[in-house]
Amino acid sequence: MASGLITRDKEMKKRITILPGDGIGKEVTAEGKRVLQSIAELFGHEFEFKEGLIGHEAIEKTGVALPDETLSLLKKSDAILFGAVGHPKYDNDPTLKVRPEQGLLKMRKELGLYANIRPIKLFDELLHASSIKPEILKGSDILFFRELTGDVYFGDKGRKDDGNTAYDLMIYQRYEIERIAHKAFQAAQTRKKKVTSVDKANVLESSRLWREVVQQVGKAYPDVTLEHQFIDAAAMKLIQNPRSFDVVLTGNLFGDILTDEASQIAGSMGMLASASVGDSIGLYEPIHGSAHDITGKGIANPLASILSAAFLLDISFGLKEESETVIHAVEATLKNGFRTTDIADNKISKENILNTTQMGNKVLQQIEKVASKQLIKQ
Ligand code: IPM
Ligand code: MG
Repeated sequence: MASGLITRDKEMKKRITILPGDGIGKEVTAEGKRVLQSIAELFGHEFEFKEGLIGHEAIEKTGVALPDETLSLLKKSDAILFGAVGHPKYDNDPTLKVRPEQGLLKMRKELGLYANIRPIKLFDELLHASSIKPEILKGSDILFFRELTGDVYFGDKGRKDDGNTAYDLMIYQRYEIERIAHKAFQAAQTRKKKVTSVDKANVLESSRLWREVVQQVGKAYPDVTLEHQFIDAAAMKLIQNPRSFDVVLTGNLFGDILTDEASQIAGSMGMLASASVGDSIGLYEPIHGSAHDITGKGIANPLASILSAAFLLDISFGLKEESETVIHAVEATLKNGFRTTDIADNKISKENILNTTQMGNKVLQQIEKVASKQLIKQ
C-alpha cells in the first residue's frame, strides 16, 4: 500500500471511473483526475482509474451515447467523475435520433441517481465576477436538491401520427418525491433549517402532488421551516434576494433551469460542482456543459471539476479531511489572485489569468502545501 505524506490508518483502495465526455469535459476532468491522484499520493490511498466513453464521442465510435461496456464499468466502480456531453451538430439538427444527452440521462436512470445536489456558494474573492451587485450576493449560500430521474425528462414522449404534434409527459410518482424530499429536509437540518420547495402548483397537477407530498414529508422534520414558491416567482427571487434561500427542493426541469440561473450567484458556471446520488454509487460533475465555443483552446475553468472531485472524496468515500484540503486549495489559489478568463474581472493582472492546466497546477501546489501542513503563503 502506498504510504503518503500523511500517515493514518484509513488508507483506502477505490475504483474511480472517469467519463470525460465531450467538449471541455476532457480538458477539465483531466485536472479533476490529477487532483484525485495527488490526494491519493499524499494521503496514502490507492485510487484505480478507468476511463469510459459517453456522449458524442461514444456515438461516433459505437453508435450509441452510453455503450454497454461503459455502463458495466460504471456499475463496478466506487465513484464516477464526469465531464460533460453535447455537440453543436445535434443542437442544430433536432431530427437526429441518437443524441449525446441520452448517455447522461440513461446513466442517471440506470444507476438510480435520483438526487442532484448543487451547492451555490460564493467564494468571497469572486464577489465581483458576477453580473449581480455584490451587496445582493454577499453571504449567499444555497443548496439545491434537484430531482433527477423523473419529470418531463423521463415521461412518455413522442410525435402524433400527423408529425405536427409533439408531447413530453410531465409525470411524478409519490415515492420519487418522497425520497428526494427526505434528503433535502435532512440537509436543511444541518444548515439554516429552511426548505423552499419550488413547483408550479397553480397550473400543474404533477406539481400539486409534489406540494402535497413535500408537506407530508415535512411533518417529520418539525425543526425545519418549509415554504413553497412557484417557479416563476422563485426565478425572480433568486436574483432579487439570494440570501433568503437555504435549501431549495425542486423537480428535474425546474431544477435544471434554476441551477443555471443560480450559477451567476457563484460568479460563473465554471465554479459549480454537483453530486448526483441515489442509493449506492455517486456521480460528480461540473454543472457547466461541453462549451464547444471554447473547446480545444485550453482556457476552460477546471475549478468546477476539481470541486466535483472534492465532493467525490467527501460524499462517496467519507474522506472529509482530503475533501477540505482540495476546497481550501481552491480558495487559496483564488486568494492568491489567480483566475481563468471566465472569473477574471478587470482588476486582475494579465499574468494572473491562467489557462486550464496552469490553474490545475496552482491548485495542486496548494494541495501539497495544505497536506504537508505548510503555511499557505503566496
Ligand atoms: C444538466 C444538463 C443536462 C440536463 C443535459 C446535458 C441533458 O443541462 O445536467 O443540467 O438537462 O440535465
Ligand atoms: Mg442543465
